[in-house]
Amino acid sequence: MRIGLVGGTGREGTGLALRWARAGHEVFVGSRDSERGVAKAAELAAEHGITLSGGDNLGACAHGEVVIVTVPYSAHAPTFASIREAVTGKVVVDITVPLKPPKVRSVQLPAGSAAALESQAILGDGATVVAALHHISSEHLGDPAHEFDCDVLLCGEKDARETVAKLIEDLGLRAIEAGTLENAVALESMTPVLLFINKKYGATAGLRITGMPG
Ligand SMILES: NC(=O)c1ccc[n+]([C@@H]2O[C@H](COP(=O)([O-])OP(=O)(O)OC[C@H]3O[C@@H](n4cnc5c(N)ncnc54)[C@H](OP(=O)(O)O)[C@@H]3O)[C@@H](O)[C@H]2O)c1
Repeated sequence: MRIGLVGGTGREGTGLALRWARAGHEVFVGSRDSERGVAKAAELAAEHGITLSGGDNLGACAHGEVVIVTVPYSAHAPTFASIREAVTGKVVVDITVPLKPPKVRSVQLPAGSAAALESQAILGDGATVVAALHHISSEHLGDPAHEFDCDVLLCGEKDARETVAKLIEDLGLRAIEAGTLENAVALESMTPVLLFINKKYGATAGLRITGMPG
């Protein structure tokens, strides 16, 4: 599948680009600065012997059948506003956790909402937002030798969710569909909890759903 990463030069975006390119997807690393996107794609290609391309964020949107937005919450609203026209008709994955440093171990969701609900409101009916990957460490994604023992819970509209679930399996993770986009409130809230547990116990905590069939 053609995958475009908006803000793909960062920690999480780089790990996703690496793993999806290794799985055979056509990946485009986007950046605010086209040269930075090209350079990051070239760096990953040289380091890992993979094929991928890069450029600016609108290029990533044009390339992707599915577009993943991987920017900090402080850049969330302006970034979604800037890609609104470019993602019409597409599935857009929002991995944003609305953290407000330095209090990253306490839940600080936008009042009565979630980052993913905000992004769907910004994009309107033209694109379908799926919320996913909030609990997956960029360090683990970026290490091809790391084998995950945790799950990815994702939420959004059914068809879009199923498309994204398949892509998540290609990262080497088990995907568990977890309802409509409103449930992003719960998914985004769990990241500060995991960050607290990591600090308290020196852990690299993830979520695993028990009692699943098969
Ligand atoms: N890091 C993790 O382990 C992790 C895990 C789960 C979820 N997340 C979520 O993933 C998202 C990205 O996290 P990250 O750690 O990858 O972030 P990051 O490395 O700090 O930044 C990602 C990219 O966002 C772009 N960016 C930065 N400031 C921007 C601004 N003001 N306007 C527009 N673009 C900007 C940059 O790309 P350019 O400068 O090239 O444009 C940067 O490379 C966050 O929402 C975070 O909550 C992160």
